[in-house]
Amino acid sequence: MALPAHPLRIAGSLARARLGRSVPLKVTHLLTYHCNVECGFCTRIHVPSDHMAPDQVVSMMGAFARMGTKWWVFNGGEPTLINPLGEYIETGKKLGFNLSMVTNGTRIEHRLDELCALDLVICSIHGDEAEHDRVVGRQGSYAAALRGLRLLRARGVDLILLCVLNDKNRELMEDLLQLGEELGAGVAFQPVVETRLGGAAIEPSLVPRQQAMAEAVDWLLDAKMAGRPVSCSRAYLEAVADSWPNRPFGVKCWAGRLFCEVTPEGFVVPCCSEEEYMAADRHGPTVGWEKAFAALPDRSGCQACWFKGPQELNLLLGLRPKQALRAASNLASGRMLWD
Ligand SMILES: C[S@@+](CC[C@H](N)C(=O)[O-])C[C@H]1O[C@@H](n2cnc3c(N)ncnc32)[C@H](O)[C@@H]1O
Ligand code: SF4
Ligand code: SF4
Repeated sequence: MALPAHPLRIAGSLARARLGRSVPLKVTHLLTYHCNVECGFCTRIHVPSDHMAPDQVVSMMGAFARMGTKWWVFNGGEPTLINPLGEYIETGKKLGFNLSMVTNGTRIEHRLDELCALDLVICSIHGDEAEHDRVVGRQGSYAAALRGLRLLRARGVDLILLCVLNDKNRELMEDLLQLGEELGAGVAFQPVVETRLGGAAIEPSLVPRQQAMAEAVDWLLDAKMAGRPVSCSRAYLEAVADSWPNRPFGVKCWAGRLFCEVTPEGFVVPCCSEEEYMAADRHGPTVGWEKAFAALPDRSGCQACWFKGPQELNLLLGLRPKQALRAASNLASGRMLWD
């Protein structure tokens, strides 16, 4: 995550948050729950999805900017299915956000001009061509994503590949790192997480066993030491190894206080696993975005997930001296905070 302008203001927000005042520094907008592929571990595509009108989204982005938001993430479902995405990217640019998008990559080439304005594109790639197409359930997905990624790279957009570790793609991590090296992209990994969102059960064969995860993490730590482009912090990988599959992750969570998500219909929720926190007093278009964010519950005691996005931030916000030093040195050399 590259740092946007105004690092001192961000440090101020962090200090205020540690004193109990919430600031939504990072907002993840789930533009839709619809998707054009079907990954076996993805439960959210089974949630019925309505969308806010474009003017509601634009006004929401302005409201969060006034609350102090610096990072904005377009996520889903598949965000490239949403027609006004280009308008939202332009709005985020005007507001000075650091803008990123998480995508399955299949439609990048159709929307290239709009996507080039993003600061970072995180593209999910789950193995080599055969394994990736098997995981997402659609032939040709890997090839389309790669065409799109090469076009984005040629236009200077930063890229991260995100691989969800299952029990079968462990031996494909080398292929992914080679692909990252070829594209000049970081490669991030996170385990399959059981979420409550959508209610559908995840097929047990997709969930890595404890031994497989321990081996995968050891391999990634060695690769990172050897200078390969593993875009996960050492702290995150060690915490995954220590906690997988049934122990708490081990750090306090800042969801709902320093970062939050917005559902396609406009409910502000602490994180994407937290469907049960959708409540009338958190519907931004009805109650206003400031009130909706202020109504979020304190989730600091929850250590229930291994999602890389929130947990990397939680580790960083824990401000352990080792992580803070590493992040500072990454920033100084223009790398992602957790490289
Ligand atoms: C829900 S997707 C939405 C964005 C886009 N459709 C994509 O796949 O990149 C965001 C990320 O979450 C990952 N994901 C989905 N379900 C997951 C689960 N149960 N455990 C871990 N990661 C998951 C996806 O692979 C993707 O990398
Ligand atoms: S591409 Fe993304 S949203 Fe679509 S099914 Fe896979 S993980 Fe879910
Ligand atoms: S640890 Fe935080 S991000 Fe993860 S499920 Fe709990 S509240 Fe959500």
